[in-house]
Amino acid sequence: MENKENTYKHLYEQALSLFADESDCVANAANLVAIIHRTFHFWWTGFYRVVSNELVLGPYQGPLACTRIAWGKGVCGTALAEEKTIIVPDVEHFAGHIACSAESRSEIVVPCWANGKIVAVLDIDSENLGTFDECDACWLEKIVALLDPTSKVTTNEELYCPDCGAMYQKHDVFCPVCGNKIDKTRH
Ligand code: SME
Repeated sequence: MENKENTYKHLYEQALSLFADESDCVANAANLVAIIHRTFHFWWTGFYRVVSNELVLGPYQGPLACTRIAWGKGVCGTALAEEKTIIVPDVEHFAGHIACSAESRSEIVVPCWANGKIVAVLDIDSENLGTFDECDACWLEKIVALLDPTSKVTTNEELYCPDCGAMYQKHDVFCPVCGNKIDKTRH
């Protein structure tokens, strides 16, 4: 696999482009787990949604998973309670880890925010120890932020390059006039 940073950059662009045409959060979340899962070949990739202060299974890829996780329980419930991304290099050393599958060895859980509240968590499991680091945390946080309908990333049809001011189309990655890579978060 090419370097992880570049892979995440491509995933980010792909998600941005997918979400530009669709505002349905469930559809976007379903496609997002599919592209993350297929790109990295993780063991399990999916969302748990916050419903009445507990987590309920959402769109996912991978083997059967538990459907509900209480606030503060497991890695997912802890990420919700502590309102932060949690990286678990070895699930056997995380007190209270919920083993949906014996194959899972390491895990990352990333909270998803909308309107200043956590509305879901993205949970990713790997069959290998120590799969996740700060690079995964940073990029996954950026990528799930694109699901937030109040996100500053524009989906407006009239888009202008932040460098030269030329108009570009929403699927463009590079400005058609100055050729610079378009940083879509700068609008
Ligand atoms: N391991 C998670 C439970 C969800 S599954 O891994 C899909 C946890 O401890 O919260």
